[in-house]
Amino acid sequence: MGFKHVALIMDGNGRWAKAQNKVRTFGHLQGSEKVREIAIAANDLGIEVLTLYAFSTENWKRPKDEVDYLMALPDVFFKKFLKELMEKNIRIQTIGELEAFPDSTRNVLLRAIEQTSNNTGMILCFAMNYGGQREIFLAAQHYHQAILDGIISKDITLSEFEQFLMTKDYPAVDLCIRTSGEMRLSNFLLWQLAYAELVFEPCAWPDLTADHFKEIVLDAQKRDRRFGGL
Ligand code: IPE
Ligand code: IPE
Ligand code: MG
Repeated sequence: MGFKHVALIMDGNGRWAKAQNKVRTFGHLQGSEKVREIAIAANDLGIEVLTLYAFSTENWKRPKDEVDYLMALPDVFFKKFLKELMEKNIRIQTIGELEAFPDSTRNVLLRAIEQTSNNTGMILCFAMNYGGQREIFLAAQHYHQAILDGIISKDITLSEFEQFLMTKDYPAVDLCIRTSGEMRLSNFLLWQLAYAELVFEPCAWPDLTADHFKEIVLDAQKRDRRFGGL
């Protein structure tokens, strides 16, 4: 069956830039162009949700210049590509705590979400100031508060608990791809990846092509997923 939800850890922008004697931020700019190409490829494949790890709760540790550059990128990205995303009927959403971003960055994201909210095609979800541990921690806090408020009972099911996660409206993640050869999750979708297929792709994010992305997805779809059964 076709995958409904694909998640992507877009890694390797900085090393990609360094390899050609460019500054790290040049890699981020190229990386943001790549988002457009891969989003369109995912849409062509009929994927329902493509979740992209764009900024982690740990990425605040980077030098201020780099963080500032990343904060300014959504504006550059949507100015260039919003029209095409509209034509492709793609809906923009986010997970993560946008409150921590400068007003300008947050407003650009909220505007893109609003402008695409009536689109009915693929959801392109940006994980921004997102961390899997923080998401589960917040879910537990909200669940606890809902019990105190008498809104929910103490004995809920696992799928009822999932309604407290930021991904509550999305199907389970079928496949997670990480570029740049690193074999770790770096705090991405820890709950949602429980039974996802994993692909660690050696090439850097700016070097991934639409064809290669499609090949990875189609190959992974052939895997025998047993979910603990036989
Ligand atoms: C991924 O590329 C983009 C973000 C984390 C924002 P990196 O910036 O991590 O690039 P490398 O891993 O240092 O090469
Ligand atoms: C993960 O990449 C975060 C994003 C792609 C946004 P990092 O480059 O931050 O991860 P580590 O530090 O190598 O684990
Ligand atoms: Mg990295």
